[in-house]
Amino acid sequence: MSKISMEELVNLCKQYGFIYQGSEIYGGLANTWDYGPLGSRLKNNLKDAWRKKFIQERKNAYEIDPSILMHPRVWEASGHVGSFSDPLIDCRECKTRHRADKLLEANNIEGADALSHEEMIKVIKDNKIPCPNCGKSNFTDIREFNLMFETYRGVTEESKMKIYLRPENAQGEYVNYLNVLRTTRSKLPYSIGQIGKAFRNEITPGNFTFRTIEFEQMEYQTFCKEGEDNKLYEYFKEFGKQFYLGLGIPQEKLRYKDHDKLAHYAKAACDIQYEFPWGFDEINGTHNRTNYDLSRHEEYSGVSMKYTDPETNEKYIPYIIESTYGVDRSILALLFNAYDKETLENGETREVLKLHPFLAPYKVAVLPLIKKLHSEKANEIYEYLNKYFMTAYDESGNIGKRYRRQDVIGTPFAITVDEETLNSNTVTIRDRDTMKQITISLDELVMYLNKVLSY
Ligand code: GAP
Repeated sequence: MSKISMEELVNLCKQYGFIYQGSEIYGGLANTWDYGPLGSRLKNNLKDAWRKKFIQERKNAYEIDPSILMHPRVWEASGHVGSFSDPLIDCRECKTRHRADKLLEANNIEGADALSHEEMIKVIKDNKIPCPNCGKSNFTDIREFNLMFETYRGVTEESKMKIYLRPENAQGEYVNYLNVLRTTRSKLPYSIGQIGKAFRNEITPGNFTFRTIEFEQMEYQTFCKEGEDNKLYEYFKEFGKQFYLGLGIPQEKLRYKDHDKLAHYAKAACDIQYEFPWGFDEINGTHNRTNYDLSRHEEYSGVSMKYTDPETNEKYIPYIIESTYGVDRSILALLFNAYDKETLENGETREVLKLHPFLAPYKVAVLPLIKKLHSEKANEIYEYLNKYFMTAYDESGNIGKRYRRQDVIGTPFAITVDEETLNSNTVTIRDRDTMKQITISLDELVMYLNKVLSY
């Protein structure tokens, strides 16, 4: 089990500057969150880890940065205008709104998302499922509620055109698949990835940053020939799991969950779930989208989406294997996973975030042992190190307290500057996880840190 409750994690994030309530001074806008100095560093490091594994270390893989706002026909073609919706149900007693499938899941009814509206209503009635707010069981019928945020483009009332904030990033890759193929002179199979924001008017957002109305996705689309799709689908499920294992999440905290009900575009879909305090829940989704999206774009745009095999001259619309990683959900999982509370030999407790060093907001902290005597040299070292690494500097309070402050924000290494540094140009490096210290020459410091911080 996690050593920290959700409430404690929310407080820790706020206290140290990982995540704050959005628009806090106005009482907050529900389910919006702002990443603070440490949170945005952590997020950027996660994105860099993803870039390294999915773009840099893979052949035939390219990152793009398309617009959030797209032509409204994109969302008609993709099927989102017609069917990107959730089953909405209202409590007649207290007027709160709920997602019917989530209501069933919360009451341990398996496979709820595969039921029809009529079946869901029957199960709710037969089991007298209560409203989570007032406890009564008196619900309206179910209506489909489209999750896309709408806005308007145009300067005059007459010229206004309804457009949408994108509910998924994928379409940006699909409409650019031919551009990227041409400009990179690639052959299939090839992949396009992007990191960016998506927006969904979720009926029941919640659980801190787990389900929000604005969130980030790291998406990866692999274009291939029909027949190669099943193998690539299995490959990317495993690749995703390895990605999380490589960031320090242990095997037993992860599991696959096949979808009972498939999205309108998918032939197969499987999530990677992390064990949060409330149970296993989705952090990634891998989908076999077949040639649905590209065929629809060909139909709606009138532009051929066919690929011509340079060897055989065969023409076909590629299949797509998509693997999407929620940035915010992954951050939440990584924070829960990293938190530890230890009782030390002297009976004190220490809170520590055992984040993978590549993810840690600060890589190293420079701490003068005695402010009056060692801060000049410590500042020199700080100015030198911050050319290479995100470096923290702290000279206030006793050294034990300063170590604790770095432990709880996940800084993997702390350098103590003392008399030895002045006399023999050496520093002590303390390891966050083991609390062991080694002495090292200043000349070797950057090389050493580069080695222990590598990913
Ligand atoms: N293009 C495919 C797609 O968007 P998805 O399963 O709907 O697939 C992918 O979403 C990932 O995005 C999820 O696994 C999750 O990590 C994240 N995500 C989805 N909705 C979210 C929300 N409301 N808040 C935070 N993250 C969300």
